Amino acid sequence: MKFFVDTADTAEIRDLAETGLLDGVTTNPSLIHKAGRDFLEVVKEICAIVPGPVSAEVVALDHDGMMREAEIVRKIADNIAVKVPLTIDGLKTCRKLTADGTMVNVTLCFTANQALLAAKAGATFISPFVGRHDDVGFSGMDLIADIRTIYDNYGFDTQILVASVRNPIHVVEAAKIGADVMTAPPSVIRQLFKHPLTDNGIKAFLDDWAKTGQAIG
Ligand code: E4P
Repeated sequence: MKFFVDTADTAEIRDLAETGLLDGVTTNPSLIHKAGRDFLEVVKEICAIVPGPVSAEVVALDHDGMMREAEIVRKIADNIAVKVPLTIDGLKTCRKLTADGTMVNVTLCFTANQALLAAKAGATFISPFVGRHDDVGFSGMDLIADIRTIYDNYGFDTQILVASVRNPIHVVEAAKIGADVMTAPPSVIRQLFKHPLTDNGIKAFLDDWAKTGQAIG
């Protein structure tokens, strides 16, 4: 499963990229607002840090407007994935952009039927929002499993990008289902490395090592 980080904070992206475990980045207008930086400038910087896909979202709601914005956004770098909302105009835009060889991430997916439509529109990525789905009393992971089944039934190569990830359980469940990608905030990615028994084990080993009086090298 590929790991994307869901942030526009370039310091966080740089730090996580150094692990060699980061396959891409997703942003959205709220994350751009949080970063407090110029949209085109920050996305360009992110594209230079991470070679993998970097999602940048258009904000127009009509097809012509989305196309106009996408023309600007896709020129930023070769690794841009234009992010469009799951609407009729969004999917029209998706169809047109992917036909031209541009990567498209269809966002704000909440049903398996929406995911089916996005795959038929040639989406590179479909982003079901599991956390927001859980928030309103549905199972985000059931949605991921349904999409996996449908995509496998018909051999769609649209990648399932599990979004709105809120905790490590979301990540392991997505991996068990066979999602292609997950995108999570930096804090959740950092949590994946952690276990108290790992920390306790390191401490115990180092305490015993100190008693040996030895050094390596
Ligand atoms: C994905 O592309 C979105 O940016 C993101 O995962 C939304 O997450 P949230 O529901 O935590 O805002």
